[in-house]
Amino acid sequence: MYENNSAAEMYDRLYQDRKDYRAEAGQVADLVRSRKPDATSLLDVACGTGIHLAAFAELFDRVEGADLSEPMLKVAAERLDGGVRLHHVDMRNFQLDGTFDAITVMFSSIAYLRTTEDLSAALTAFSKHLTPGGVVVIEPWWFPEAFIEGYVSGHALTTDDNRTITRVSHSTRVGNLARMELHYVTADSQGVRHRSEIDDLTLFTRVEYEDAFEQAGLRAEYVASEPGRPGYFVATA
Ligand SMILES: C[S@@+](CC[C@H](N)C(=O)[O-])C[C@H]1O[C@@H](n2cnc3c(N)ncnc32)[C@H](O)[C@@H]1O
Repeated sequence: MYENNSAAEMYDRLYQDRKDYRAEAGQVADLVRSRKPDATSLLDVACGTGIHLAAFAELFDRVEGADLSEPMLKVAAERLDGGVRLHHVDMRNFQLDGTFDAITVMFSSIAYLRTTEDLSAALTAFSKHLTPGGVVVIEPWWFPEAFIEGYVSGHALTTDDNRTITRVSHSTRVGNLARMELHYVTADSQGVRHRSEIDDLTLFTRVEYEDAFEQAGLRAEYVASEPGRPGYFVATA
């Protein structure tokens, strides 16, 4: 899904004006500082193309990013212009130099994990990278009861170089996965192209998340956000 350059570039173009990344970063910084007022460092795991990182860099003295996808990290490196350390890691098992006052996983990226064992492994790795009193903030994917079978979404944009991209999606439930079928149509001076892909996100239950936090030695609280967003888990050691 995120393993080729054109997908990473298209992701970046489609989302950078569609979500208020700066406002989300501000919400997360408030959640962190309500638990750890002196927080100065942050690691954004599954940072993708680094849009939250750019906003976090204005709110914390030291920010770093980590992601499994090299193409996504390449776009992030261009955006951040070398000013932020980026790590190519799998969130289930990583070891970085240093610790952080805050570790975040935004935009439901945690739901790319498939099992509760992987969830606990990731949270255990986060726990090991926290400073004393540090805070983990995770924006989960929808809990199963909130998933809307047959949900559709659509989006179109025209870029500065006279390219129009449309993206439509349709979601169904397959076991404990939300399966999103995505279709992209791009029109530019070369013609019109179509591609499609399947994006699976795991519908972990609230209890599964809470158990995984507990296994990692973290005390988690669920904080609801505005309608249309899945809220946050905020956890401390
Ligand atoms: C929906 S994108 C979100 C990116 C970014 N957080 C944002 O809000 O725009 C999901 C990201 O999760 C990353 N990812 C998926 N599985 C991962 C794993 N096991 N470890 C680290 N990153 C992972 C993907 O490479 C991708 O960049």
